[in-house]
Amino acid sequence: MVNVAIIGVGNIAETHLLAYSKNKNVKVVAFCDINPDRLQYMGKKWGVDKCFTDLNEMFSNVPEIDAVSVCTWNSAHAPCTIAALKAGKHVLCEKPMAMNAQEANEMLATAKECGKLLMIGFVRRHGNDAKIVREFVDSDYFGELYYAKATYLRRNGNPGGWFGDRSRSGGGPLIDLGVHVIDLVRFIFGNPKPISVYGATFTKLHNRPDIKSDKGYRSAGAGEADICNVEDLASAMIRFDNGAVLSVEAAFSLNLKKDEGKIELFGTKGGAKLDPELELYGEMNGYMTNMSLANIQTALSFDGLFENEIDHYIDCIEGRAACIAPAEDGVTLMKILDGIYESARLGHEVLL
Ligand SMILES: NC(=O)c1ccc[n+]([C@@H]2O[C@H](COP(=O)([O-])OP(=O)(O)OC[C@H]3O[C@@H](n4cnc5c(N)ncnc54)[C@H](O)[C@@H]3O)[C@@H](O)[C@H]2O)c1
Repeated sequence: MVNVAIIGVGNIAETHLLAYSKNKNVKVVAFCDINPDRLQYMGKKWGVDKCFTDLNEMFSNVPEIDAVSVCTWNSAHAPCTIAALKAGKHVLCEKPMAMNAQEANEMLATAKECGKLLMIGFVRRHGNDAKIVREFVDSDYFGELYYAKATYLRRNGNPGGWFGDRSRSGGGPLIDLGVHVIDLVRFIFGNPKPISVYGATFTKLHNRPDIKSDKGYRSAGAGEADICNVEDLASAMIRFDNGAVLSVEAAFSLNLKKDEGKIELFGTKGGAKLDPELELYGEMNGYMTNMSLANIQTALSFDGLFENEIDHYIDCIEGRAACIAPAEDGVTLMKILDGIYESARLGHEVLL
C-alpha cells in the first residue's frame, strides 16, 4: 500500500484524488493547502482528516506518507517538490514542472541526491492516442518524422485566479497549455534534443473580462479580483537536433471560431492528425490514402487519462514500471519554454 498526500487541493487535485481512489494500492492519508477554507472543504469532501497548512508540519505529523502529488500553482512546484523529496517522499509534480529551467534543474538534482522518483504530470503521454501513434512510429509507418504542427487554442479560456498572475504562473497559455502539446510531440518524436526556438507572444485581449460566455476550466481561486499580466497568445517554432521542427500555437483568448487542440505529424512515408480522433495519411497502390483505425478507440479519452498517469506513478514507485515522464523531460520542456519567452522578448531566434 502506498500512502499518498496531496499538496495543493485545488481543482486538479480532485482529478488526482478520483484517480487515486480507483487504485487499490493507494491510501490518501493527508492534505496540505495554504488556503485553510479550501483545505477544510476538501478534507470534508474526501474524508481526509489529517489536513495541514504547513508542508513540513504535515511531514512531521504524518510520517507514513510515501508519496505526494504536487498540485499547487506553478510558483510553488519547486519549493514543495524539493521539500517533499528532502523529506524522503516520491513526487508526482503537475505540469509545468516549474517556473523556469533553473528551478527545474534544482528539482532534478534534489531527486537524484535523495534517490526518490520525480515524475512530471505530462498527462498526455498516458493517452490512448499517444500510445497508438507511438506504435506507428516504432513500426516506421511515418518514415522520417520531420515536421509537426500543434495547436491548443481557446477563444475565451483564461482559467482565472493565479493563471493570469505571472508571479505565480510564470506565463500564460504557452506555459499552461503549450507545454502539453509541445511535450506530446517531443514524446512522439522520441524525445529529441531542442536546439533553437523562435517565439512571439501577444497580450491584446487579456482575460476578456467583458465577455459573458462560459470560460471552461476554472482555478479554484478564480474571482472578481483576478489580474491578468500574462500573454494571451503564443506562437513558436522549435528546432530539434535530428532536424525536425515543431510549430506551436497556444491561446487563452483569441478571436477564432471555436476552441481547438490538435496535433499534425508529417513524415516521409506518412502523416497523421490527432484532432483528437486519430487519422492517418499515406500512399497505397499509387494513390494517396486517408485512414482511420476500425474497432478501436483512437480519440484521446479524457476518461481514464489521469487514472493511467496515477497508476503508472504507483507502478513506478513499486518497481513495476520505468517512468515514461521523468524529471529530465520536465527540465527540457522548461528550457524550451524559457527560450520561447526570451525569443519573444528579444524579437529573434534563441539558441538553447
Ligand atoms: N495536467 C493537466 O491537464 C492540468 C489541468 C489543470 C491544472 N494543472 C496544473 O495543476 C496545478 C494546479 O492547478 P489548479 O487548476 O488545480 O489550480 P487551483 O487554483 O484550482 O488550485 C491550486 C491550489 O494550490 C494551493 N497552493 C498554492 N501554493 C501552495 C503551497 N505552497 N502549499 C500548498 N498549497 C498551495 C492553492 O491554495 C490552491 O488551493 C497547476 O500547476 C496547473 O498547471 C494541470
